[in-house]
Parts: sequence; C-alpha cells; structure tokens
Amino acid sequence: MKKTILSGIQTSGALHLGSYLGAIKNWVALANEYGCYYMLADLHAITVRQDPAALRETTLRQIAQYVACGLDPERNTLFVQSHVRAHAELAWVLGCYTMFGELSRMTQFKDKSAKNAENINAGLFTYPSLMAADILVYKADLVPVGDDQRQHLEITRDIAQRFNGIYGDTFVVPDAYIPKVGARIMSLQEPTAKMSKSDSSPGGCVYLTDSPDVIAKAFKRAVTDSEASVRYDAEAKPGVSNLIEIYSACTGKTAAETETEFSGRGYGDFKKAVGDAVTETFRPIREEAERILADRAYLESVYRTGAEKASAVADATVREVYEKVGFLAK
Ligand code: TRP
Repeated sequence: MKKTILSGIQTSGALHLGSYLGAIKNWVALANEYGCYYMLADLHAITVRQDPAALRETTLRQIAQYVACGLDPERNTLFVQSHVRAHAELAWVLGCYTMFGELSRMTQFKDKSAKNAENINAGLFTYPSLMAADILVYKADLVPVGDDQRQHLEITRDIAQRFNGIYGDTFVVPDAYIPKVGARIMSLQEPTAKMSKSDSSPGGCVYLTDSPDVIAKAFKRAVTDSEASVRYDAEAKPGVSNLIEIYSACTGKTAAETETEFSGRGYGDFKKAVGDAVTETFRPIREEAERILADRAYLESVYRTGAEKASAVADATVREVYEKVGFLAK
C-alpha cells in the first residue's frame, strides 16, 4: 500500500519562486511513490481579508500553475479546499479537541495578529484545527511543509493522538516530509526572512507570472554584502547564499560548482545570471499556465475530478468520526 501525502498552499496571493522551488517542484517527483493530495487552501486564505474577485482569480490561476509546474492531475489529486465539505466539518469536531492554550502558543497566530491588529478573528485563532482536519481527513502519513509550518504539524499530531486516545485508533499520526533536496528560498530584500507573498519590501519576492524584465530588476536589486565574492556562507552572507541556492536549484549545479563558475567575477554578473536562470525556469511554466487558463473546460474538469476523488476519501473519515463521537446516524 502506498503511503499518503498531503500538502497545500493558501490562495491568499500569487505563487512565487519560494513556493515553486521550496514546495511544488519537490511535490512533482512524489507521485511515483505515494498517493498525493495537493490542495488550494482557500478556507485558510479568508483568515485575512480577501477581495472576492481577486480570490477567485488567484484560485483559478493557482490550479493552472500547479498543473503547469508538472503536477499531473491524472497522478495527483488536485483540489480546492472549499470544494470538499469534509474539511470544514472535521475542523469543527477537531476544534473541540484543541485547547485554547495550545492555540495561544502558535507563533503564526501571534505574528499574524500583530500584522492584522484590526482583524484578529476567530478563524485566525483556530487556523490550526482546520489544518489538522486537512491532513487527518485523508489519514495522510506524510506532510511536506516548510519550517514555518512545523508547529502546526506538531499540534496536528497532538490532536490526532488525543482523539485516538479517547475513541481508539482513528487517525494516522502524520510526520513531516523532509525532501532529499529542498531549497529554502529567502526574500531578495531581507535574506534572513523566508520569501513570502506578504513580504512588505517590494522586490523581495518574484512571482511565477513576472515578466523577464521584472525578474531581472528584482535580482539586480537583491541585497548582498560588501565582500564581492560569490561564496556560500548562510550565516555571514545570507543574501549571496540565497542567490547561490536559487541558481543551483534552477540550473542543477551544486553550490561549489556555482562558486567556481563565478570566482573572480563581480556580483553584477552573478545577479544577472541568477535572474536569467529564474526567467528560463519560469518561462515554460508561465506559458503552460496561460494555455491551461485559457482552456476553462479542462481547468474545471481538473478541479471537479479532484474534488470528487478527495471527497470520497474525506467523507468516509467524517462518517467514521461522527459515529465515534456519538452523532446520530441520518
Ligand atoms: N498553512 C499552510 C501554509 O500557510 C497551508 C496549509 C493549509 C497546509 N492546510 C495545510 C499545508 C495542510 C500542509 C498541510 O503554508
């Protein structure tokens, strides 16, 4: 029996270099070995205020981009979170097995509350119960997540164990999936912070849809240091090391090969090469995503089929859970 993998990305903004190199690119290879579910987390996205038209547009584009990045919908279950009711249903139940104190300790909640002081809503607080539902509803064994989501995976394990302890074996207690080669892409403007769509400094983030011009400019302005030597040292040279990481991920060259290639050359040359490598990496994805976006019938068939496949599994888990907690069968 193949093990199950689930992961997702919020639809709160466009996909960028960090989402591609740090997540989606690694997901593509997993379909051989695992049963894979990849979700577009729109329920999570509304924990911060979204413009409705923009949210719909972002969601649609993101599905096209998942496919354009190489996630074959025949071999992966690609779906939109809100299309599978079981997520919201299980999230409610799990919320009753998640402690106020645990949620209060979540660093993402503390960060997001600080950033959205005018809208500290209950959804922002109970975000981890929904994320636990996303994972547990498919009985996923492995969850590829970045460091920033580790704490949410920990609480998911705690919730699963707590529920299993009361009602007997129900959920699989999931582990984090650590890819063999995983890039962790940092902001181009603030290379000690993860590249993120909520990056406040313009140019810190490059998007899959950015034109070659915009990409070139962002890399030209990328923060480096005054040493003028292309050398990997994440502690002392976070900016340059991030660029090396990006270059390696796009070209398949190792960090050492990259250092040799650019030894004795200035940062200007290097930044241009990194920008070009990113442009060439994005080009086929951007073109394919545009082609898919224009084919609405195909796109709809992808997310409808995905939701159907996902619902079949997720509904069965919800039925099992409802029975265990003592809800009357209808
Ligand atoms: N919280 C994740 C993030 O912001 C997105 C997410 C939602 C997710 N549900 C998930 C990731 C389930 C993995 C598994 O990146």
